[in-house]
Amino acid sequence: MTLTHIMPSLRSSLPAHLDAGVWPPTARWGADGDLQVGGVSLAALAAEHGTPGYVVDEAAVRDRCRAYAAAFGPDAVAYTAKALLSCEVARWVAEEGLALYAGSAGEVRVAELAGFDMTRVTLYGSAKAPEDLEAAYRAGVGTIVVESLGEITRLAAAAPEGQRVLLRVLAGPEPAGGHDRRFGLRVAGGEAAAAVARIAAQPRLRLAGFDCSIGHQLNRFGRYEREIGRLCEFAAAMHRAHGAGFEQLNLGGGHAVAYRPAELDLALDAFATRMRAVLHLEAGRHRLPAPRLTVSPGRAVVARAGVTVYRVLAIARTQGGERLVAVDGGMSDCPATALCGSRHSAVLIGRAARADVGPATVVGRHNDTDDVVVPDAELPSDVHPGDLLAVAGTGAYHHALASNFHLVARPALLAAADGRARVLVRRESLDDLLARDLR
Ligand SMILES: Cc1ncc(COP(=O)(O)O)c(C=O)c1O
Repeated sequence: MTLTHIMPSLRSSLPAHLDAGVWPPTARWGADGDLQVGGVSLAALAAEHGTPGYVVDEAAVRDRCRAYAAAFGPDAVAYTAKALLSCEVARWVAEEGLALYAGSAGEVRVAELAGFDMTRVTLYGSAKAPEDLEAAYRAGVGTIVVESLGEITRLAAAAPEGQRVLLRVLAGPEPAGGHDRRFGLRVAGGEAAAAVARIAAQPRLRLAGFDCSIGHQLNRFGRYEREIGRLCEFAAAMHRAHGAGFEQLNLGGGHAVAYRPAELDLALDAFATRMRAVLHLEAGRHRLPAPRLTVSPGRAVVARAGVTVYRVLAIARTQGGERLVAVDGGMSDCPATALCGSRHSAVLIGRAARADVGPATVVGRHNDTDDVVVPDAELPSDVHPGDLLAVAGTGAYHHALASNFHLVARPALLAAADGRARVLVRRESLDDLLARDLR
């Protein structure tokens, strides 16, 4: 029972509760509905930089990097760049001691521009284009993840002498439903063993261990534990057959993030302790020296650091009584909401909310019934065009997945820290968009 249950009138006069597990750690209400992140007013940012706008709490990203480094130890954590990347974000990650998982020539280039130590960059990807591999060779990335048999021949022909590689292994059973579209080398049927033999026969390549990716938004440990067991069993067999080294086991990412107050994220410290213990146990059982355990989280490093600010453009009520609040963005800046069904939290900002709070569906501007930004928001009944909304938990896979659907320009990415805001990636202009149309 909360105070607002006992005194319902308070619901309309108190600012919305900011759940500590969902909003950036520096999110605070100022006077008159002024929501601040990193000590910066989101309404002021909207006025200066326009909407929609992505705002990243720099301290929150740095804190998560430090928490990961502390939980897993030095050199054990790589940030998976595809969740959110700009040169500045790469610099924060590097300064906080994390390595980087890059999945394209573009991500490799950003790492270089950010001054990343390229020996700490891993290139992964189920279908690497020739230019991805060329960028990796030229930049001197430390490690390349092999994800198909054909790739071994390509790497053996062109990779720098002594290129360190990991093998992406699919050791577990197929996911339910029988549509296993994952890339990687399957242990069942001997494909993974054949890959180890092929790599061992290539003097240019040095197999350093194994890599896997077992899912997304996982907050339980069981699947990771079983994967460690299966990978150790496979590694032991490869050690016996080829004397193949096993110095690193990358357990991937997929660590869950809470988007709503009732949701659970992955308990990081307990997870790290448990995974280390299981690895020691399993490696010991197979008489292998325990390899270095590494992880490559994306979402869990940046999701909670991000907030998107929208302006309300229109209000409608359906025949069924559903209140639709349409904002100036949508599936072009938050496609993950439609793709993955992530359900975010939203609040009114920029003015004191005096009216009662009620259910609302925040929808986008793309003339598509799937264009939902927040499916079940709780917003004051007097929300009207011109108001500002802040949506929590948009740090991962929002800026990264943004598109120009409807020929809408992509929002700016801003960083807020210590009362100052900086533009990391400027807003796209219509001229930017039209410059690519050769008319
Ligand atoms: C090896 C590896 N690590 C990490 C990730 C990122 O996943 P998440 O953002 O859920 O942590 C992926 C995604 O495909 C991956 O392949």
